[in-house]
Amino acid sequence: MSKHIVILSGDGIGPEIMAEGEKVLAKVNERFNLGLSWSHELLGGCAIDAHGVPLPDQTLEAARKADAVLLAAVGGPKWDTIERSIRPERGLLKIRSELNLFANLRPAILYPQLASASSLKPEIVAGLDILIVRELTGGIYFGQPRGVRTLENGERQGYNTDVYSESEIRRIAHVAFQLAMQRNKKVCSVDKANVLEVTELWKEITTEVGKEYPEVQLSHMYVDNAAMQLVRNPKQFDVIVTGNLFGDILSDEAAMLTGSIGMLPSASLDQQKKGMYEPCHGSAPDIAGKGIANPLATILSVAMMLRYTFNEGEAANAIETAVGKVLDQGLRTADIWTEGTKKVGTQEMGEAVVAAL
Ligand code: NAI
Ligand code: MG
Repeated sequence: MSKHIVILSGDGIGPEIMAEGEKVLAKVNERFNLGLSWSHELLGGCAIDAHGVPLPDQTLEAARKADAVLLAAVGGPKWDTIERSIRPERGLLKIRSELNLFANLRPAILYPQLASASSLKPEIVAGLDILIVRELTGGIYFGQPRGVRTLENGERQGYNTDVYSESEIRRIAHVAFQLAMQRNKKVCSVDKANVLEVTELWKEITTEVGKEYPEVQLSHMYVDNAAMQLVRNPKQFDVIVTGNLFGDILSDEAAMLTGSIGMLPSASLDQQKKGMYEPCHGSAPDIAGKGIANPLATILSVAMMLRYTFNEGEAANAIETAVGKVLDQGLRTADIWTEGTKKVGTQEMGEAVVAAL
């Protein structure tokens, strides 16, 4: 079986953090004899500079053929003034939809060493380990019709359409239940079924899918309450499954519980477990080129890739354990630095993880 990864370093801090992700990948590949290979392609601003488009055909073809894609981040002020349809972020949206990556997994895990970096009280977040499963290719972000129209009275009106078909709900629900089976066997489906018909269907289908997983405890929550519960008592959750819009908002909210965006990986999967793995943050142009960006979200994205696409749970665990070890050693990049810890740069952090492995 081929096990090939396409690496997209992108823009801004992308190449700096990806260099460290690659060192970790090379280390686990050797230590666990994984037989992985990888190659580099262009996506985002760097692709615009080289080819005039953010997602060149060559990149898309290589990504289609690969088993997984590892991305750092794209975008930056240099490309903010060009026409919207060929901006770096468009390349990202396009590769996600072309690869049909409908399941976005965003874990929010608090490393105990970083408890003081969270904005919530330590007792509320200590031991936090939740997983948000967000539907990524449907809902109001893609629904038609959409636009801004002028009414007969001359007033303009903006509109979008929230749509989900049964099959779209069913496949994301299965992903959530299957992941819950490997965790604490709890799924909370978040909707607004008291007001929105589309989420009434969401509730009905998730309930139906839930019957196929009798070991998993399914609950339903309205999104406004879920937003509140995430800051009141986040540890009540195990897996949260929700649509594109609610998932976007709730996953950012959950991310902040853990302290820094520099720590958070993500996975976007298709039906066959092919996936694109990337840190949740962007290209951080404000700190690019300074060697101070936190590479851990990218390194933890490598771990997610090994776990979900390549079924190499042991190697994934080893990376996560190594990250814990470097935090135990008191090493911190600037974004997670607190009094009494040792401030290190991007490269030093990456190499410490390799050494811990
Ligand atoms: P951002 O996530 O790049 O930065 C937000 C803040 O977090 C900045 O202060 C930055 O320095 C800091 N930060 C981010 N990652 C960090 C890391 N690894 N270590 C330390 N600090 C880190 O978001 P922003 O500023 O809104 O966007 C910058 C560019 O990135 C824009 O062009 C945006 O479109 C793009 N972007 C790309 C994404 C992607 O490729 N998936 C996602 C989000 C934004
Ligand atoms: Mg968002």
